[in-house]
Amino acid sequence: MVKFEEMQNNDVYKNLLNGKWIESNSNKLIEVKAPHDGSFLGKIQAMTKEEVDEAFSNAKETFKTWKNSNLSERADILHKAAKILEDNAKFIAEILTKEVSKDYKSSYSEVVRTADFIRYTAEEAKRLRGETLYGDAFEGSAKNKMSIVTREPLGVVLSIAPFNYPINLSASKIAPALMAGNVVLFKPPTQGAISALYLIEAFRAAGIPNGVLNTVTGRGSEIGDYLITHKDVDMINFTGSSDVGRHIASIAGMVPMIMELGGKDAAIVLEDADLEDTAKNIVSGAFSYSGQRCTAVKRVLVLESVADRLAQLVSEELKKIKVGMPFDEGVTVTPLIDNKSADFVQGLIDDAIEKGAKLIIGNKREANLVYPTLFDNVTLDMRIAWEEPFGPVLPIIRVKTVEEAIEISNNSEYGLQSAVFTNNIDKAFSVAQSLEVGTVHINNKTQRGPDHFPFLGVKSSGMGTQGIRYSIEAMSRPKAIVVNFNTKF
Ligand code: NAP
Ligand code: G3H
Repeated sequence: MVKFEEMQNNDVYKNLLNGKWIESNSNKLIEVKAPHDGSFLGKIQAMTKEEVDEAFSNAKETFKTWKNSNLSERADILHKAAKILEDNAKFIAEILTKEVSKDYKSSYSEVVRTADFIRYTAEEAKRLRGETLYGDAFEGSAKNKMSIVTREPLGVVLSIAPFNYPINLSASKIAPALMAGNVVLFKPPTQGAISALYLIEAFRAAGIPNGVLNTVTGRGSEIGDYLITHKDVDMINFTGSSDVGRHIASIAGMVPMIMELGGKDAAIVLEDADLEDTAKNIVSGAFSYSGQRCTAVKRVLVLESVADRLAQLVSEELKKIKVGMPFDEGVTVTPLIDNKSADFVQGLIDDAIEKGAKLIIGNKREANLVYPTLFDNVTLDMRIAWEEPFGPVLPIIRVKTVEEAIEISNNSEYGLQSAVFTNNIDKAFSVAQSLEVGTVHINNKTQRGPDHFPFLGVKSSGMGTQGIRYSIEAMSRPKAIVVNFNTKF
């Protein structure tokens, strides 16, 4: 077991710089409290611009040696980090549960899934060494040319993670970036920073060389623009809201970027779907972690002929869901990350009621605990038809034809994922091919995993592709060395 005591002093969490946990000179501390009961969890530091500069220049310097390190050396460190995470899974899951109000079971599985992710990344990177191309494969080209294409790291990857998966979505940037030979400057979400810093300690304790992984804490609204526009950023890997993503893209300049942003994933239900199974998938897809998943089912588009039955089944499934505090056994819906988020969700609920949606269940709230809410007969003039709630509210929109479902789905500003439920494989493929999203799931809820599948959003849902191999490729570039043979002796 690793001793985590160096990371903090009197509940003040430090930042990792050049292999050491350091305290900021800013004297500006941000309190982190548990969203479910307001209990104090610790303080993180708002780093100064000078400290950010130091973290970048240290990373830049370290890149010169790390980029030339052996893949097997990098992989060994990642395997050790994965083991440390796994050995401390219960401890870290408890912190995660408190910090982001995620039910304990999901928190624990996030930590374990992340260890698996890191291991797979270590092995996958070994297979991605590049390729050799021959000139004679191209019409009219010389036989005496050969291109050796290697993959080169980009440099300093600025990784910024959101609150909802502070362990998994941090590691899903850091591990592929490191395996590709980059160094990482990591900015955790403010709410979620403590959990994320434990992940960083796992990498440090595993032997990551000094300066290869540095952290910067502080509010994105204060330090974010400075980080994004810093001269030493070679690549930005960001996960968060579409609004912040758009802002980052507008100020970043010519820096390569990956963005994983918001979504409004539709579950499209056709007449011949297995409605019992569909209802189960919809409920777990929409309400797990209180709907605070980018890939949550955020609207149902159902053919009128089966809408009554589906609404009834979804409502029956929903009644089985347990609402409570994150450590309660079997709980699914817990308090949201903060009151502001609960206010936003309540605003969507109020708007739907005002405009005549049929409330089947819910519209109950205690502070930031929003009870699961289901609406039927939602119409397209309602905000809930289009906006991402990031909370436990689900609209059912009835459609007359499959074409109408596709049209409504595609009219969204988002394009992360969709699900289609039908027992007709031809229809399933036809709908899947018509949807403007990164991924379509047939007969299952929308979801990110398994983590080696490509994961991407189109339109306001993002740019670039993640997924283990895709992430390594996105955070590296090809370099060609062309060998010209002299065929005459
Ligand atoms: P957010 O408010 O956009 O914050 C995301 C991260 O950006 C945080 O670390 C935040 O720091 C930082 N940040 C804020 N302003 C910044 C700026 N000007 N420059 C640089 N960084 C800045 O998102 P969130 O509320 O944490 O997460 C929820 C959203 O993320 C939802 O919309 C969800 O759909 C999306 N998401 C998408 C995916 C995906 O894979 N597509 C996955 C997970 C979440 P602070 O915490 O300090 O404010
Ligand atoms: O919030 C976005 C996460 O990437 C969702 O992951 O679908 O595995 O819960 P998940």
